[in-house]
Amino acid sequence: MNKKIVLLPGDGIGAEVIHAAKDVLTAISKKFNHEFDFQYCDIGGIAIDNHQNPLPDETIEACKSSDAVLLGAVGGPKWDNNPSHLRPERGLLGIRKALDLYANLRPVKGFEKLLHASPLRQDIIQGSDLLIVRELTGGLYFGQPSERRDNGNSVVDTLTYSRKEIERIVDKAFQSARLRKKQLTSVDKANVLESSKLWREIVEEKKSDYPDVTVNHVLVDAAAMKLITEPTSFDVIVTENMFGDILSDEASVLTGSLGMLPSASLAEDGVGLYEPAHGSAPDIAGKGIANPIAMILSAALMLRYSFQLEEEAVAIEAAVERVLNQNYHTADLKSEDGKLVNTNEMTELIVNELK
Ligand code: NAD
Ligand code: IPM
Ligand code: MN
Repeated sequence: MNKKIVLLPGDGIGAEVIHAAKDVLTAISKKFNHEFDFQYCDIGGIAIDNHQNPLPDETIEACKSSDAVLLGAVGGPKWDNNPSHLRPERGLLGIRKALDLYANLRPVKGFEKLLHASPLRQDIIQGSDLLIVRELTGGLYFGQPSERRDNGNSVVDTLTYSRKEIERIVDKAFQSARLRKKQLTSVDKANVLESSKLWREIVEEKKSDYPDVTVNHVLVDAAAMKLITEPTSFDVIVTENMFGDILSDEASVLTGSLGMLPSASLAEDGVGLYEPAHGSAPDIAGKGIANPIAMILSAALMLRYSFQLEEEAVAIEAAVERVLNQNYHTADLKSEDGKLVNTNEMTELIVNELK
């Protein structure tokens, strides 16, 4: 198989962990006889520095004509005081919109060996295995207007969703549930928000198309609590953009670290983008100690969802598991008797497992 992959390292640890994914994919290409051509493009803060634009046109064009995109992370203190249109995060939102990546799939499955790395009790998190299906191109993130008024003394952010936008993400979630334990939890704030009321109505309407899937509705505040008190009660969670953002960082605690959580951002048909759920981690950037596993598992999701290379995806996930089972861990994963390794060492261990 011959595939063109665009790499968007971005900023901070994004630029450090993207190499890990590239190394692992190169090992996969040798082992399974594929050809992956990599092309680097700028996005985020580095793109602002190099092109005065967080999302240069060349980057959009390269992504559109690729077979898949891998993104590290964007953002950092250097650009935090920039005007809105010159913020790194604008680049990320822009590429999600440009590729119509409406569905963000964030699987949250802890590795057995890392049960102790979570601050949560092992008996609570053992066996947790859930998928957050987050709407990614609508809601508050893309509201118009979004602006300051009254000389900066008042602000407005707008939460808009169309029926079509909700229907397609809800369909995606039902379809995902069908491939798993067939249990869908829709998370909303229907006791307050009009957008959530329409969301809930649409989930109810869709139920009859998927009679094999059981559905329940949970308000987002209660869902936040239940995620850490009863995580095994969830299978697939479907929710709007901002709720999904917040709940997925929370859910990462089940796995021991935010540095473990991969994601797939998918279009209806078209190029997919794969990115860890974490950010550019300015507090550890430049030290070479970031956990590359979220990025590496995102590359596995790319093989699975964009290239239908299930065996290769499983090979990566199994290699990660074997390295963790040998007691290696990065600094974000608490361990009493483990062997502490840095980003490059962890990557090399995983690559060696693939040889
Ligand atoms: P963050 O996810 O970057 O970091 C949160 C905490 O988790 C930090 O303590 C960090 O050190 C730790 N962490 C995250 N990933 C890690 C990894 N792989 N290995 C080890 N530790 C890891 O969130 P933040 O600090 O709130 O945001 C920093 C910047 O990143 C901001 O500019 C934000 O906008 C941006 N951000 C970007 C993305 C993205 O590009 N997808 C996602 C989230 C945040
Ligand atoms: C994420 C990030 C982004 C989001 C930010 C950086 C815009 O937190 O991918 O989860 O909120 O979607
Ligand atoms: Mn986030």
